[in-house]
Formats: sequence, C-alpha cells, structure tokens
Amino acid sequence: MIFEIALVFASIGCAQASWIDGAWLGKRQATATSASSTATPAYFQTVPELLAGPTPTGDAPFLPEYNPAPFPSVSYIPPQPLETQVPISGNTANNNIFQLFGQLSHYFANPTGFGANEYRLPAGANISAVYTLHRHGSRYPTTGSGAPTTGAKIINATGTFNATGSLAFLNTWKYQLGAEILVPIGKQELFDSGVSHYYNYGHLYPNNGSKIIVRSTTQDRMTQSAEYFLAGFFGLTWTQNATLELIIEQNGFNNSLAGYYDCPNNNNATLAYGNLALTQWSNIYLANATSRINSMISGKLNFTVSDVYNMQSLCAYETVALGYSPFCGLFTYDEWQGYEYSVDINFYGNNMFGGPSSRGTGIGWVLETVARIQHKFVSSAQGPLNYTLDSMASTFPTNQALNFDFTHDTNIAAILTAFGLTQFAPFLPATAIQNNRSLIVSHMEPFGARLDIEIIQAPKPVSASRNGTAATDYASGNATTYVHFLLNQRTIPLGASWSQCGNRTDGWCEMGAFLNTMSTKFTESQFQYACFGSYPNVTYSASGVTNGVPQVPQKK
Ligand SMILES: *[C@@H]1O[C@H](CO)[C@@H](O)[C@H](O)[C@H]1NC(C)=O
Ligand SMILES: *[C@@H]1O[C@H](CO)[C@@H](O)[C@H](O)[C@H]1NC(C)=O
Ligand SMILES: *[C@@H]1O[C@H](CO)[C@@H](O)[C@H](O)[C@H]1NC(C)=O
Ligand SMILES: *[C@@H]1O[C@H](CO)[C@@H](O)[C@H](O)[C@H]1NC(C)=O
Ligand SMILES: *[C@@H]1O[C@H](CO)[C@@H](O)[C@H](O)[C@H]1NC(C)=O
Ligand SMILES: *[C@@H]1O[C@H](CO)[C@@H](O)[C@H](O)[C@H]1NC(C)=O
Ligand SMILES: *[C@@H]1O[C@H](CO)[C@@H](O)[C@H](O)[C@H]1NC(C)=O
Ligand SMILES: *[C@@H]1O[C@H](CO)[C@@H](O)[C@H](O)[C@H]1NC(C)=O
Ligand SMILES: *[C@@H]1O[C@H](CO)[C@@H](O)[C@H](O)[C@H]1NC(C)=O
Ligand SMILES: *[C@@H]1O[C@H](CO)[C@@H](O)[C@H](O)[C@H]1NC(C)=O
Ligand SMILES: *[C@@H]1O[C@H](CO)[C@@H](O)[C@H](O)[C@H]1NC(C)=O
Ligand SMILES: *[C@@H]1O[C@H](CO)[C@@H](O)[C@H](O)[C@H]1NC(C)=O
Repeated sequence: MIFEIALVFASIGCAQASWIDGAWLGKRQATATSASSTATPAYFQTVPELLAGPTPTGDAPFLPEYNPAPFPSVSYIPPQPLETQVPISGNTANNNIFQLFGQLSHYFANPTGFGANEYRLPAGANISAVYTLHRHGSRYPTTGSGAPTTGAKIINATGTFNATGSLAFLNTWKYQLGAEILVPIGKQELFDSGVSHYYNYGHLYPNNGSKIIVRSTTQDRMTQSAEYFLAGFFGLTWTQNATLELIIEQNGFNNSLAGYYDCPNNNNATLAYGNLALTQWSNIYLANATSRINSMISGKLNFTVSDVYNMQSLCAYETVALGYSPFCGLFTYDEWQGYEYSVDINFYGNNMFGGPSSRGTGIGWVLETVARIQHKFVSSAQGPLNYTLDSMASTFPTNQALNFDFTHDTNIAAILTAFGLTQFAPFLPATAIQNNRSLIVSHMEPFGARLDIEIIQAPKPVSASRNGTAATDYASGNATTYVHFLLNQRTIPLGASWSQCGNRTDGWCEMGAFLNTMSTKFTESQFQYACFGSYPNVTYSASGVTNGVPQVPQKK
C-alpha cells in the first residue's frame, strides 16, 4: 500500500494493507447490515462509522512533564501548543525544522509560492464556484510503518542497552503513539481550514436552499477531518447545512479519493521507485548520524540507517501527538534538510512524475472535477471512480458552488500528476539535494493540505499581463471565465504546464483552454495499461519514468 509511504521505508508492502482490510472488513460489514434497516444509505451514515479502519489511540499528553524548554541560552517562547524552539546544531539562520518534515509537517501555508504572484479579483469579476481537495489533518503513524517498527525495536531492547549524551533519554523512553487516527492538532488544522474557507467562500452558501454534499472516505481520520472542517465552516450544527458522503476506502473498491485501491500497479512495491530513491539517499545523508547515534549507545541495541531515518519520523509524530519529541534535537540542520528531500524524492518516484501509475491513480478525481465544472456527470465508467455514486445527483451533485472533497497526501500528489502539471516533473537525483526544485512535499501535501480550484467570471477578458493596477486589469472583449488553482494558499501558474493557458502573470487559465487541455488527460494517463498492465521494472533515474506513466509503451 503506497499511501503515506515515506514512513514505511523498510517495511513497505501490501501485506499490512491486506491485514488492515481483512481484519476490519468482516466486523464492520456486520455493523452495516444491522444498521441497514434505517432509511439512510450506508454512504451517508457517519455514526456508527462503517469501515473506519484501525483506531488505536495513544497516551494522553502531559507536556510540562517532559518539555525541556526553556533550553539554555534560548529565550523562552511559549508552546503554541507544540514545542518548536528545540536547538538544532548548524541551524545558523534559525530556520524552522518543523517545516522540513515533508508530508508529516503540521500545516503551514506554502511560504515560497509556485512561481506566480497573487492578484486580487479585478473590479466586476466574481467567484462562482470552488472545488476543494483537502488532506486529512495530523495523525498517528500508519500501522506497520517505519516509526512504530523502530519504536518496537527500542522498547524490546529496553534494559539491555545504555544510551548516553543526547541519546540518554532512550533508556527510559516509552512508545506512546496510537495509529492512523487524527491527533488533536490535526483536528484543529481542519477546523481552522473550515474557518478559513468560510472567510473565503462563505458567500457561496446557501446552495439554492439545499444542503451541500461533501465527500470523504470511510476511514476514521478521513470522516473526522471532514467533520472538523464543516464545524469550522458552518458551526457545530453543520449537519443542517451539509451531508457527508463516505466513499468506501478498501481494497477492491473504486474511490477517486483513494485512487490506489483501483490501481493495482500502484500497490506493487517493485514499481515504487521512490522507495529505491529513499534508500539510496538516506544511506548518504544519514551515514554520519547513524555512526554518531550508535556511538552514544552500548549494549545490545544497534541502529541501521533505516532506524535512524525512522527516528526522524518519530520526531515528527511525537511532536504532533505529544507536543515535544526528544528525537528532534538528535539531528543537525543539514540532516533535516536531507529528510525533507528524502520525502520529495519518495513522492516523486512513488506518486508523481517518477511513478509509472501516478497519472492512472489520480485521473479519477480529474475526470470528476472537469465534469462537475461543466455541470455534467462523468461521461462513462473510466478511471478509479465509483461510477454508481457518480451517476446519481444525490451523491454527485453537479451544480454546487461549494464542493469539498477529502483525501490523502499521495492521492493529491497523483492528482496533480494526472492533471499534467509538468512544472513538477523535472527529475530529482537521489544522490544530492537538488536546490531550486519545484517539488517540495511540505509545501504541497503537509497535514491539512488543500487544493482550491476557483471558477472566476469576469465581464471582459482579464489581461494576461496585468500588473496589479486597475488600469491593466482588463483587455477588451466579452465576458470570460477562468480557472485558478491554489495549493496551500498559493497560486499554481497553470501556463507553466499547460501551454494553451498562455504565460499569464496571474497564473489563471481561460476556461476553454482549460477544458481543451483536460480533454486528453484520461488518454494520457494510460489508465488501463498503467494500472493493470505488465511492463518492465526500471530503475529510479533521469532516463527512467519521468512522465507519470510507464516508460515502455503498450505493445499494439
Ligand atoms: C526482541 O528481542 C528479541 C531478543 O533479543 C529478538 O529475538 C526479537 O527479534 C526482538 N523483536 C523486535 C521486534 O525487535
Ligand atoms: C552508561 O554509560 C555511562 C558512560 O559510559 C556510564 O557512566 C554509566 O555508568 C552507564 N550506566 C549503566 C547503567 O551502565
Ligand atoms: C445552516 O443552516 C441553518 C438551517 O437552515 C441556517 O439557519 C444557517 O444559517 C446555515 N448556516 C450558514 C453558515 O449559512
Ligand atoms: C460504489 O459505492 C457503493 C456504495 O458505497 C458500493 O456499494 C459499491 O460497491 C461501490 N462500487 C465500487 C465499484 O467500488
Ligand atoms: C560527515 O561528517 C564528516 C566529518 O564531520 C563531514 O566531512 C562530511 O561532510 C559529513 N557527511 C555528510 C553526508 O554529512
Ligand atoms: C552495528 O551494525 C552495523 C551494521 O549493521 C555493523 O557494521 C556494526 O558493527 C554494528 N555494531 C555493533 C556494536 O554491533
Ligand atoms: C459574475 O460575473 C459574470 C460575468 O461578469 C456575470 O455574468 C454574473 O452575473 C456575475 N454573477 C454574480 C452573482 O454577480
Ligand atoms: C503597470 O502597468 C502600467 C501600464 O503598462 C504602468 O503604467 C504601471 O506603471 C505599472 N505598474 C506597476 C506597479 O508595475
Ligand atoms: C462577443 O460576443 C458577440 C455576441 O455573441 C460576438 O458577436 C463577438 O464576436 C464576441 N467578441 C469576441 C471578441 O469574442
Ligand atoms: C513568462 O513571462 C515572463 C514575463 O514576461 C517571462 O519572464 C517568462 O520568461 C515567461 N515564461 C515563459 C515560459 O514564457
Ligand atoms: C509487480 O510489477 C512487476 C514488474 O512489472 C511484475 O513483474 C510483478 O508481477 C508485479 N507484481 C504484482 C503482484 O503484480
Ligand atoms: C526492480 O529494479 C530495481 C532497480 O534496478 C531492483 O532493485 C529490484 O530488485 C527490481 N525488482 C524486481 C522484482 O525485479
């Protein structure tokens, strides 16, 4: 299973996913059957949850008991609520390592943008609809992933080793994390985003007097993320304003919000080139840290590079779950930059342009969204989408101004790839950090990430070279409609990837050019071949897969 994968590292594979599915399917389906006497279809049932997946919680935090702040010679900054002022060796510019955790970063708006400046709406223009694709909030580690694996190794050996220096905490360390479900700050991320979206788009409600349909999946953290978001947007009585539709997230079901379940090759570890890249790169950037950490321990415990990598992940997880983690301070600033890059190459090779089934995995949501923008159903059953749900107005409304869908990090990555946003396609070597790269996962898929696609109607064509002054806003002509993509609150310049959009200063794309560009995306994804076909295993390299589809074309 390739979701949330950078943490899986040494223990990747489908086995854990099938264990999760197998263990829970029977139990939860029994609940579904007993609840089926009610009139509510199962896909609208939120209580009790059906197919919620594993939901073990962790220990309750107790931050004052283990927070070492204030640190010597660092002036005190109150935790808000997480401790973020941990001294980091080599952090001369006092940068924030907590924003170098890739997809495990607590939400922050993209600080650098994607190469376009933002522009206000020109006078007389309006936003007529928004299509939002939202990641769940901060959570515990995935079952069977790297952090709990190394955690178990340490706990298992407790009492047989002696750790000293900055590693001395390990002698009495406990594993206090749950699995899979949202941690408190993850709930806050979604609530805050609901509030933010209300400020931005609240005026688009009411929806012709009817409730909006909001889509998420059956997994507990997915359901709860949507609920916290809606509480932020509408208030605690949000069920008066929105109906939550939960699409089954299980092996063997189609779900555009979890596209890998209908793309078997995306679950095939042999084809997960990002894992090769991660192994190669972590052996380089963590070589020093591994010997340094092993030199601080005697006895029967010895750490591999992947253990040390998992300690970096434990820093990220303990921070959001417990408020502070002693693992964070073990690493230098350069090693945190190495960690950030490890996630970027892992996503590149597993879920974006370096993966052969990335477009195939993401194409379902692209088809759905392009159809919804045109107020149509998807024309036929294609891609990883549930065509039954997508052909009913009650579960796939095509006339909503507010559209909120909830998904996972790797699925957002695959969807950006299926859209053909090739500005993120340049190959990232696994041997050295590529500076000035366009693909930075913490800027694209942190916890609580959100892609907002706005539909903008203008009374005249908006000038492609406007500079922010009213005088340059409009060209002459008829009313014109645009699409505007914002990822984590920054504009994606669409012309950088889609030539038909032109080189606009505002990064928007005229609707006709957008639809024309989209018309070929399903074919380009090679969905059937990429997801179900047999093609040679290649390696992670600039001459391997770099377009999100298999490198070797399908035999005619
Ligand atoms: C726990 O320790 C025992 C004895 O050293 C070892 O055989 C076993 O593999 C360890 N288990 C884990 C999960 O590390
Ligand atoms: C652990 O190692 C340190 C440093 O070598 C030593 O001072 C200490 O006595 C050791 N503790 C135990 C319990 O062996
Ligand atoms: C939600 O619906 C209720 C009942 O129709 C309405 O009173 C309330 O204003 C709506 N909330 C918002 C934020 O529009
Ligand atoms: C589509 O969703 C419905 C309702 O949850 C479910 O019964 C059906 O099995 C799903 N179909 C596929 C192909 O996933
Ligand atoms: C490892 O440490 C040595 C000595 O401090 C240093 O020269 C080297 O650049 C470091 N390597 C990495 C990959 O950080
Ligand atoms: C720790 O493991 C590494 C590689 O697995 C090995 O080279 C090293 O000798 C081991 N150290 C100890 C003290 O066992
Ligand atoms: C939005 O702008 C378009 C184009 O000028 C116009 O036709 C439409 O009436 C406007 N909608 C609203 C709600 O103002
Ligand atoms: C914007 O463009 C207009 C027209 O070319 C020019 O007069 C103005 O100085 C420019 N303003 C800025 C801030 O660049
Ligand atoms: C504007 O619309 C009118 C009426 O539909 C049409 O005749 C004209 O060609 C359009 N102008 C442009 C520049 O598209
Ligand atoms: C887009 O326009 C800007 C400003 O005119 C220019 O600097 C840039 O090179 C252009 N980009 C492309 C891809 O043409
Ligand atoms: C995974 O992909 C490889 C290379 O295409 C193929 O040989 C293998 O059969 C696939 N495994 C599964 C389980 O599909
Ligand atoms: C796929 O290719 C990689 C890189 O060449 C190699 O490490 C791996 O063993 C290959 N897997 C299979 C199943 O051939």
